[in-house]
Amino acid sequence: MPPYDKHLFICTNQRVAGHPRGCCADKGGMEIRAAFARGLAERGLKGKVRANKSGCLDACEMGATVVVYPQGVWYLGVTLKDVDEIIEQSIVAENVVDRLAATPEKWAELQEIRQATNAKKE
Ligand code: FES
Repeated sequence: MPPYDKHLFICTNQRVAGHPRGCCADKGGMEIRAAFARGLAERGLKGKVRANKSGCLDACEMGATVVVYPQGVWYLGVTLKDVDEIIEQSIVAENVVDRLAATPEKWAELQEIRQATNAKKE
């Protein structure tokens, strides 16, 4: 039996100002992580669900990035106002918040953003 029913990884990576990829810390990563921890505790889920800070999850341009296991659902563009919905839909229930979940189209968009950024550097 794993120690937690669900495990969230919330990117709080900080990069230097002006970095072309940006970072989740500049998009509220630390505050989002704190809001998840608070929201889980308020629902009596402390010890059952863990909200971990993580380093870069490599979706920086579309952050803030949150991953929920064991489902392996990636959420992109997460803001503070999304935290309660993710907890209710993806932690308490077994649903997915579709409007935030990564899709093949969103991953393709991320690659396009990266290629455009790299082209500017060349
Ligand atoms: S800085 Fe958060 S995914 Fe890279």
